[in-house]
Amino acid sequence: MAAPASGAAREAITPDAPVKLSIRNVGKTYGGITALESASFDLRQGEFLTLLGPSGSGKTTLLMIVAGLVQPTRGEVWIDGKLATYTMPDKRDVGVVFQNYALFPHLTIRENIAFPLRMRRMPETRIAQEVARVLDIVQLPHVAARLPRELSGGQQQRIALARCMVYGPSIILMDEPLGALDRKLRDRMQLEIKELHARHAITVLYVTHDQEEAMAMSDRVCLMNQGQIEQIGTPRELYFKPSTPFVADFLGESNMLDGTLEKAGDVALMRGPHGLAVRARTHQVIAPGDAVKAVVRPESVRLLREGETADNEAAGDVTEAVFVGGVSRIFITLTQGVVISAKQLTDAAVPQPRPGERVRIGWNIDHGVVLKASEPAR
Ligand SMILES: Nc1ncnc2c1ncn2[C@@H]1O[C@H](COP(=O)(O)OP(=O)(O)OP(=O)(O)O)[C@@H](O)[C@H]1O
Ligand SMILES: [Mg+2]
Repeated sequence: MAAPASGAAREAITPDAPVKLSIRNVGKTYGGITALESASFDLRQGEFLTLLGPSGSGKTTLLMIVAGLVQPTRGEVWIDGKLATYTMPDKRDVGVVFQNYALFPHLTIRENIAFPLRMRRMPETRIAQEVARVLDIVQLPHVAARLPRELSGGQQQRIALARCMVYGPSIILMDEPLGALDRKLRDRMQLEIKELHARHAITVLYVTHDQEEAMAMSDRVCLMNQGQIEQIGTPRELYFKPSTPFVADFLGESNMLDGTLEKAGDVALMRGPHGLAVRARTHQVIAPGDAVKAVVRPESVRLLREGETADNEAAGDVTEAVFVGGVSRIFITLTQGVVISAKQLTDAAVPQPRPGERVRIGWNIDHGVVLKASEPAR
């Protein structure tokens, strides 16, 4: 375990931090089923990377391969600069926390945490010190003498984390560790894990299918789909610069407009249904005539007041307006027949548009992205 950093603030992950884990063209097939196609990425010291994706996308398979509990069909796993593809799990220096944080029910919390140290034949005095140290870290120093069943779910989860941290593994792997907890406890544990990670510069590979959890906790997110990596990047990159329609659709809400590229370039012009013109950013090589999708987030769509303008403008009728407290969601059917959803912060002084009302909407070039409609070749 790295020494606690001074203060709670964590150094930003620098591109030159040492690589702790390198996944190189790792794939796994079970009989005829491909669980993982070919995954490659590096995880740097102190980084928090989350594997996010729908059920069955290969997240657990990849985590198990890193843990050494599943053998890959192809590819290599490097840990701390050493080839570890065929290294036994207990020789890998990785700690694992699963959803069912199986603490030994008949052992006290102290003994549960001491277990991995006993396995490593650490002297008793050191064991006592180390157990006390991690109980402090997870802020449960008073529960050492209790049995697991005498703790709440969230406390047990923290103990599972402490047991994993106590021997200072190079990398901590967590597979849906908060899956069994209720929403409120989950939110609190998210903050606690993030705080632990920040304070102690732990390197974490995390798995969840909850996009908000992934965005809130991670330095980078690896979005997986059907055994393939769709995109790896910071939460902001994935949200604002999705590289495929799947990414745009999976993270948050989006308006997705089908069309044909009319003009390529940094600012692309797309021709949508019934001549609807959309100008937006593009980060891909797309040629005029290609089938594309324009992605615009509902919060970027504005209802234009009299005289107000935007880079992209369209007119339509409000079909639905839903007040949900802090925000309202408005659905507008454009004259081109397309339905656009807009999300606005509410204002007690400004009336909400009503169904049937004629409106003009708009959004700026920087608030839209044009993507290839077909999946890019991998
Ligand atoms: N032991 C196995 N034998 C056969 N197929 C398997 C095995 N383990 C996983 N799979 C298949 O591999 C695919 C990926 O499974 P995996 O458990 O990695 O998904 P996941 O992303 O973790 O999903 P979830 O969010 O539901 O946990 C699935 O189609 C699954 O059915
Ligand atoms: Mg899983």
